Amino acid sequence: MADTAASFRVAADAYDRYVGRYGPDLSAGLIAAAGVRPGMRVLDVGCGPGALATALARVVAEEAVAAVDPSETFVAACRARLPAADIRLAAAEELPFADDTFDAALAQLVVNFMRDPGAGVREMARVTRPGGRVAACVWDYLEGMTLMRAFWDAATAIHPTAPDEGRAMPYAREGELARLLERAGLRDVRRGELTAHASYASFADLAEPLGHGVGPAGAHYVSLAEGERARLRADLQRRLGVGNGPFRLSARAWLAVGTV
Ligand SMILES: C[S@@+](CC[C@H](N)C(=O)[O-])C[C@H]1O[C@@H](n2cnc3c(N)ncnc32)[C@H](O)[C@@H]1O
Repeated sequence: MADTAASFRVAADAYDRYVGRYGPDLSAGLIAAAGVRPGMRVLDVGCGPGALATALARVVAEEAVAAVDPSETFVAACRARLPAADIRLAAAEELPFADDTFDAALAQLVVNFMRDPGAGVREMARVTRPGGRVAACVWDYLEGMTLMRAFWDAATAIHPTAPDEGRAMPYAREGELARLLERAGLRDVRRGELTAHASYASFADLAEPLGHGVGPAGAHYVSLAEGERARLRADLQRRLGVGNGPFRLSARAWLAVGTV
């Protein structure tokens, strides 16, 4: 796969206005599924600007949260949000922590961007104590992630070979994430789905972050000439069926949770 992780070396505020809007709902679901409780020590793998880490800090206290991400801008943004947490520049495949350090390790919308997802999940299991949980979620890019589905349908209508995340993303189909956790040696792997919502002030509010090149959709959008961008925006708005006033979109993610 192309270096999609590179599309996250962007400003944290652009990310927040793009996928970050879905973060609070998604984090609440992932934290509940992982059974995170006060008193636990937890790890957020691929923390981005810190949506999940911030939600974890509200449950377990900031000092009990560690997080890693290979993007320097995201690590800086996450550190600014959570100065008492242990935020490090690192990738999932080589976690800079000793065995059995955490009660739970969570990865929100990250496994599909890992260079070696098998190694990344095995590392998450290694740093989690026996009996602790490893939990992950990935967007249902094929259908349930409304924004991205509509974006790629509009993008492929213009360029049929546009890199539709629904086709290109691993672990985007039901059950694939659970199988990844099982292959990594986790026990009692449970699968499910999470639904998150985001509110927009207008269609322009939705389209603006794409111009910063954030994520694979943004990277594709900024590669287009302005005429094609305008066509894509118009088709995206039509497919979403939204006007220029406020609206809300839903997004489904696949969930898998296993025990170490
Ligand atoms: C879609 S963002 C998710 C960010 C955050 N977890 C959230 O829910 O908002 C994907 C993140 O994965 C990170 N990432 C990419 N490759 C990674 C790897 N090998 N290990 C850990 N994180 C990685 C990116 O830098 C980016 O922050």
